[in-house]
Amino acid sequence: MTEKLTLDILQPADWKEGLLVGFAPAPADQTLDSPGKEAGDVRLNPAEMKAVVSLGKPEKISPEMVRRAGGLLARWLEKHNVAAAGLDLASLAAAGLPLEAAVRALAEGLLLGAFRFANHKSDKNDKGPIAVSLLAENPAALAPAVEMARITAGAVNLAREWAHEPANVITPVTLAERVQALADEPGLKCTILDDRQLEEMGAGAIVAVGKGSNTPSRLILLEHAGDGSGQPPVVLVGKAITFDTGGYSLKSGEGIVGMKYDKSGAMAVIATLAAAARLKIKVHLVGAIAAAENMISGGAYRPNDILKTLSGKTVEVISTDAEGRLILADALTYVQQTYKPVQVIDIATLTGGVITAIGNVRAGILSNNDALAAALCAAGERTFERLWRLPLDEEYFEQIKSDDADIKNSGGSKASPVIGGMFLKQFVADDLPWAHVDIAGMMNFDKDAPYCTKGASGFGVRLFLDYLEHLA
Ligand code: BES
Ligand code: MN
Ligand code: ZN
Repeated sequence: MTEKLTLDILQPADWKEGLLVGFAPAPADQTLDSPGKEAGDVRLNPAEMKAVVSLGKPEKISPEMVRRAGGLLARWLEKHNVAAAGLDLASLAAAGLPLEAAVRALAEGLLLGAFRFANHKSDKNDKGPIAVSLLAENPAALAPAVEMARITAGAVNLAREWAHEPANVITPVTLAERVQALADEPGLKCTILDDRQLEEMGAGAIVAVGKGSNTPSRLILLEHAGDGSGQPPVVLVGKAITFDTGGYSLKSGEGIVGMKYDKSGAMAVIATLAAAARLKIKVHLVGAIAAAENMISGGAYRPNDILKTLSGKTVEVISTDAEGRLILADALTYVQQTYKPVQVIDIATLTGGVITAIGNVRAGILSNNDALAAALCAAGERTFERLWRLPLDEEYFEQIKSDDADIKNSGGSKASPVIGGMFLKQFVADDLPWAHVDIAGMMNFDKDAPYCTKGASGFGVRLFLDYLEHLA
């Protein structure tokens, strides 16, 4: 990925040239030359060649508002062809937030806001990156916050870039190759199970889902040893359906567009592992990525097929479009058998129903453990990757009872995100803390947001990194 924006920290006296940018809260009464009303509004004073970025209403100033201001500033600098800018951090400090947190949020916003997916554009915009200097009296004191932001935003942008790639570029096989290459970095180990190995070990669900595709399924494992104390790991499991046609339970012409993003859960897991290694997070961490392509062919699985999962449980397929839970079921079983985890969190674009329920503002979370759910929700509030818990009462199990197999994979449209969670719960030991994050509504934006342009969002990476930071 080519950098669109570079960041350094300088003493004001060492800054050579560029546009000077300050920060200020929005006054209640707007005038011609006051900072704008919304966080991220930029006003230029042409006489002084100085710009002011609004931080929004004083009582609402938070790291999120600063992140938004950073994202919108990056876009404003790009739009106006500003090659270099110096950001006056003293004016940011005056807003009253702890400076390190504010600087981290600002740097994240700038780097996230500068992300563009242009891998397949012929018109290579070869303007150099925008050189942004953060101006502070004591650069060394802020260096760690900026470095954290660089690694975090780099990981989110990696998740976005890979999620953006279409299914003719990223298949289960090329995804596995990419993850393998990523694991060349120190601190990461990658293991790939191919379709033959999956078949032999009895992972009948993940194999079945990939059967209709010319590209077979993969189970990709990424491990970060943490502080090396050999503690049992926290395991993150991600859904990577590289394209979801729905299979024989075919999606509509409208519903199928955007299904390249059905690998977004796994992209969050991969990027979290990459960042955890760079940040040297102390937690022993395993990422398991279940990768398959849900297509149609003479070999494809069908409604009414009965699959034998790795757990031994049999599943009757009602809808080939409820494929995510099938591949995750085998991945959940595999990680429990292999790693004896302390907790497991899966993340998946699992149901359209979660969008019906809570839209594109929060992701759904379902869990068998109140403490785990609360800790993830708290990370969601801190990062603004917000979650909302949905129920998992036993009564919902009724909906996935099957006449001919142990369970069925769909219980119709009623409470579908809950049923998705209920299905997955059948593959998790009762005493293992587990949470399922349904990000179907958050995988992409259909219009520009302050620090995310239209397209893949990278949702989940900042959430997980914050959660892990607070675990250790
Ligand atoms: N990948 C989809 C869920 C999805 C839908 C994600 C829209 C993002 C936007 C998933 O595989 C799916 O098709 N789920 C079905 C489940 C149903 C058949 C029980 C759904 O939600 O319709
Ligand atoms: Mn589907
Ligand atoms: Zn899907």
